[in-house]
Amino acid sequence: MTRAVCPGSFDPVTNGHLDIVRRAAAIFDELVVATGTNPSKSRLFEPEERLEMLREVCADLPNVTVMGFSGLIVDFCRDLGAPAIVKGLRGGNDYEYELPMAQMNVHLTGVETVFLPTNASWGYVSSSLVKEVATLGGDVSSLVPPVVHARLVARLAERAAQDGA
Ligand code: PNS
Repeated sequence: MTRAVCPGSFDPVTNGHLDIVRRAAAIFDELVVATGTNPSKSRLFEPEERLEMLREVCADLPNVTVMGFSGLIVDFCRDLGAPAIVKGLRGGNDYEYELPMAQMNVHLTGVETVFLPTNASWGYVSSSLVKEVATLGGDVSSLVPPVVHARLVARLAERAAQDGA
């Protein structure tokens, strides 16, 4: 049985992420979607909220589990007995960003990284852009699952109310 880990910040999970998760789940026997925190990115949702959204949107995928992690992704993979990490690639910038991490991870423990090309429909979608567009009043309802959109709208309304208070 081959288990793989699909890590990310997922702040929040987008349709692009979900497409990668579904396709990876069709390749590997078991897929663990793992939320970590990238300290260089601004955060809208707490780790537990990101886990809840991921669990809701992955509920129909029987071989997918959702977990949080901290520390090195290679240690998380080793603890789970997962020999592979799955990442989506939208283009050259993603590749430049991901390649040294994949090389570092194979150096550290031998864990391999499998890159899946993002479906062209979602090539321009990122959590950061979704948050920016939504914050400025743009419609992102077609870019994230409905449960995520509802939470996004609610969170941004909370933030706007706090800022206006
Ligand atoms: O693509 P993202 O969403 O920015 O990924 C974030 C995350 C948390 C998956 C990534 O930053 C990560 O793997 N962090 C774990 C720390 C780690 O192992 N760092 C060394 C990588 S070579």
